[in-house]
Amino acid sequence: MNILIIGAPGSGKGTMSEKIVANYKLLHVSTGDMLRAAIKEESPVGLEAQSYMNAGKLVPDDVINKLIKERLNKDDALNGFLMDGFPRNLAQVKSFEAILNELGKKIDLVLNLEIDDLILEKRITGRRICPECGAIYHIETKKPKVDGICDNTGATLIQRKDDTVESLKTRLETYHTLTKPIIEYYKNLGILRNINADQTTDKVFEAIQKELKELI
Ligand code: AP5
Ligand code: MG
Repeated sequence: MNILIIGAPGSGKGTMSEKIVANYKLLHVSTGDMLRAAIKEESPVGLEAQSYMNAGKLVPDDVINKLIKERLNKDDALNGFLMDGFPRNLAQVKSFEAILNELGKKIDLVLNLEIDDLILEKRITGRRICPECGAIYHIETKKPKVDGICDNTGATLIQRKDDTVESLKTRLETYHTLTKPIIEYYKNLGILRNINADQTTDKVFEAIQKELKELI
């Protein structure tokens, strides 16, 4: 089972991915998480990606395509993956198809998290993440057990550099102009399922599970 999860910044891709991989044997591949790890390591990819990410712009396609190709070539991707944050424009869709063809894989399902832009600012500015394990929290809707501390690692939670109102504006523009067209593309392939992401996380996950059960 190979699945894509797409949606605007803050729509809940990462939150739902955590829940999906906890219940199904899928490898979670998040290009955003991979890039943040590269920045932390100060690797060449990280150094190149940093300024694009902080500004809310897309990192160049060739950098991303190379990351994806290398990741999917590893053995732990053999039993299925959940792709979060890729592809993000039509050029990446095409490169992805070429990579999948080479590997003899295909996409079975595309989950499209639908939500109004107006709800996203509160989600983005209230988000906190664990710098060690990447776990996602929110100051109102998903509080850790101890204020400001990750339940899993005990590390102090941080805010992502791109979680500002200004960067969100650019990220949303990027999403509407470059990423949204891929929804139409997957809809035409008949593998797109729309999920109402403006509900409690339990309800959103319930809707996703319904789609996954049909697939299995
Ligand atoms: P990426 O990391 O993918 O960020 P994004 O797409 O902007 O999405 P987010 O991670 O911000 O949101 P999410 O949908 O995962 O929401 P979450 O579950 O955390 O990309 C970052 C950057 O990397 C890009 O801008 C770009 O520069 C670069 N990049 C990445 N991939 C790329 C690619 N393929 N090509 C080029 N560049 C690339 O939830 C958000 C908050 O809301 C959390 O606090 C959560 O607790 C809360 N929440 C979630 N669901 C609910 C709910 N149902 N009810 C209430 N609160 C909720
Ligand atoms: Mg995310």
